[in-house]
Amino acid sequence: MVNLAGAPPDDPLPVLRQWLARAAELADRPNPHSMVLSTTGAEGRPDARVVLLKRFDHRRGYLVFYTNYESAKGRQLAARAEACAVFHWDRLGRQARIRGPVLASPREESDAYFATRSWQSQLAAWSSEQSQPVPSRAALNARMNETAARFGGDGEDWTAAPPPGAVARPPFWGGYRLFARNVELWAQGDARLHDRILWSRDLESAGESECRAGPWNASRLQP
Ligand SMILES: Cc1cc2nc3c(=O)[nH]c(=O)nc-3n(C[C@H](O)[C@H](O)[C@H](O)COP(=O)(O)O)c2cc1C
Repeated sequence: MVNLAGAPPDDPLPVLRQWLARAAELADRPNPHSMVLSTTGAEGRPDARVVLLKRFDHRRGYLVFYTNYESAKGRQLAARAEACAVFHWDRLGRQARIRGPVLASPREESDAYFATRSWQSQLAAWSSEQSQPVPSRAALNARMNETAARFGGDGEDWTAAPPPGAVARPPFWGGYRLFARNVELWAQGDARLHDRILWSRDLESAGESECRAGPWNASRLQP
């Protein structure tokens, strides 16, 4: 395990990978890969919520999460395609902060991930106009039943066993890639002399879902 008290490693992403793996070993914490995702819309007001990290490509330098493209966060990202993600692992005395541009995942990748989700999660993705008001819980339930019937399930009880056959991904639901332009790793130290290393690099667009990255520059920050 890399010790941040020494000279900073050239590339923070393998370190982040180790930290994520270590967090996943903590048996007493559900969702060790949940992260606070912060976005701003066109009006520049910050917003934040928890999402799950579903994939981390440490070579190509991005984090993947899945959501509704028409949710509040989806609209904010459509207006300003930049985000910040923060992980906090209290038991490990660690925080990781990743900032950079956000691009929608390739469609085939979202299709492949959607296909791995449970029938009920697939129904929920189709049924929820995420972040829009709904009159009641019963109305949500009715929508789930309608969606179940549409895909060949039990229209009276969406919790019933799924029918055979695949459910296609809704076009308004899929993945995003948050590309790491800045990574700050924070490790708790004695007497509040925490270790903080900030790595930064240039990124340039290299296609619909890709960025090309320059070399990392590291600096140690005061705690
Ligand atoms: C532990 C946890 C994990 C979550 N994971 C996701 C997720 O992966 N994707 C998602 O869209 N919402 C997830 N949510 C719900 C979001 O926090 C949020 O309520 C929802 O995405 C709507 O956010 P928005 O209105 O800012 O778009 C999660 C919530 C919690 C507490």
